[in-house]
Amino acid sequence: MRILLTGGSGFIGSHIALLLLERGFDVLILDSFINSSYNVIYRIENYLDNKKINSKLETVVGDIRNKKLLNNIFSDSIKEEKPIDAVIHLAGLKSVSDSLINPLHYWDVNVLGTLNLLLTMKEFECYSLIFSSSATIYGLSDTVPMAEDHKISPINPYGQTKVAIENMFHDLYNSNINFWKICSLRYFNPVGAHPSGLIGEDPIGNPNNLFPFLTQVAIGRQKLLKVFGDNWDTKDGSGIRDYIHIVDLAEGHLACIDYLNSKDACLEFINLGSGKGYSVFQIIRQFELSTGCQIPFSIQSRRDGDVAECYADISKARKLLGWTPLKSLDQICIDGWNWQMKNPNGYS
Ligand code: NAD
Ligand code: UFG
Repeated sequence: MRILLTGGSGFIGSHIALLLLERGFDVLILDSFINSSYNVIYRIENYLDNKKINSKLETVVGDIRNKKLLNNIFSDSIKEEKPIDAVIHLAGLKSVSDSLINPLHYWDVNVLGTLNLLLTMKEFECYSLIFSSSATIYGLSDTVPMAEDHKISPINPYGQTKVAIENMFHDLYNSNINFWKICSLRYFNPVGAHPSGLIGEDPIGNPNNLFPFLTQVAIGRQKLLKVFGDNWDTKDGSGIRDYIHIVDLAEGHLACIDYLNSKDACLEFINLGSGKGYSVFQIIRQFELSTGCQIPFSIQSRRDGDVAECYADISKARKLLGWTPLKSLDQICIDGWNWQMKNPNGYS
């Protein structure tokens, strides 16, 4: 099979690309590189060479909002007799705080970009799609674990764009029920890195998220970790989240391809998480235990928009996809630290 992977050089996309190529898929990455490095591509190519993997990796530098470009990609693939069998769509903007400042930019890139992609897929009769949605669409509720039928009530523009896209899928599927095969995967907190240390998360500027911040404290790029609140209504007062190893998350996409291939038509919304909740203090302790690093931290006030507890009910993913996360929190810490040590300044 040949897969079009939008956003394929980003944190999550690069791990999916590597896994797809290792399993014999040909991959065409479309990425604007607005939030990623071209070194990702070189590293994946080297990895394939070293392992003598023959799957084909092609890269197009471009924007999903460019309709003409999308059209060319699909028409060339037909002319060259290597049609695109399915699309994994990850390209987009993902910062909650930035989305509050630049909401229209988020609607433009995430929603219009996805609309362009769907229009082009329809025109070229490519009906299989896996999309990167987010647990952020569940909003502020404190009911855990969160199953897919949990109330949808995003509290920031980023989350609104993910909901708008999921609504687009509903309308599309209902209009054309015999054709479309769509899975919208709602990620919880993907963390860690590929065990090789070749690819990992490399945020531009100061990381907003706990895990990359913590590894940067460990390597000395940040002085100390700010813990946003120790007075939440949780077992130790710090916030609880569902951290899933990035390779487990990537495996979920492979399982999803098998699922789509087994169907004539479908539209599913599926949580991808570990199904377990860990507090910030537990993460710090486990990281120190797994790596031998000391993590200095200070308690700060709560961060706006945070919830006490958020973790997934993953029974649907287990049942429908036959997928289960395999990697422990210990492994997440070891692989995340391995990536940070081998790449103290990320890809640069
Ligand atoms: P990322 O920023 O590392 O990857 C996104 C990629 O999309 C980048 O390589 C970027 O250059 C590219 N891109 C951005 N705008 C583009 C455009 N207009 N045209 C083409 N390419 C464009 O982010 P990630 O963490 O790998 O996330 C991937 C997807 O998963 C995103 O859609 C994000 O919303 C979603 N998601 C991420 C998380 C998370 O915690 N990382 C959680 C839930 C959902
Ligand atoms: N936290 C800190 N210090 C930090 C960063 C985070 O204490 O420097 C705490 C937060 O308060 C929270 C936990 O660590 O309790 C996790 O925070 P993250 O920012 O790592 O993750 P979130 O769950 O807040 O959000 C992430 C993405 C969202 C996505 C959501 C669900 O940033 O875009 O996961 O997928 F929607």
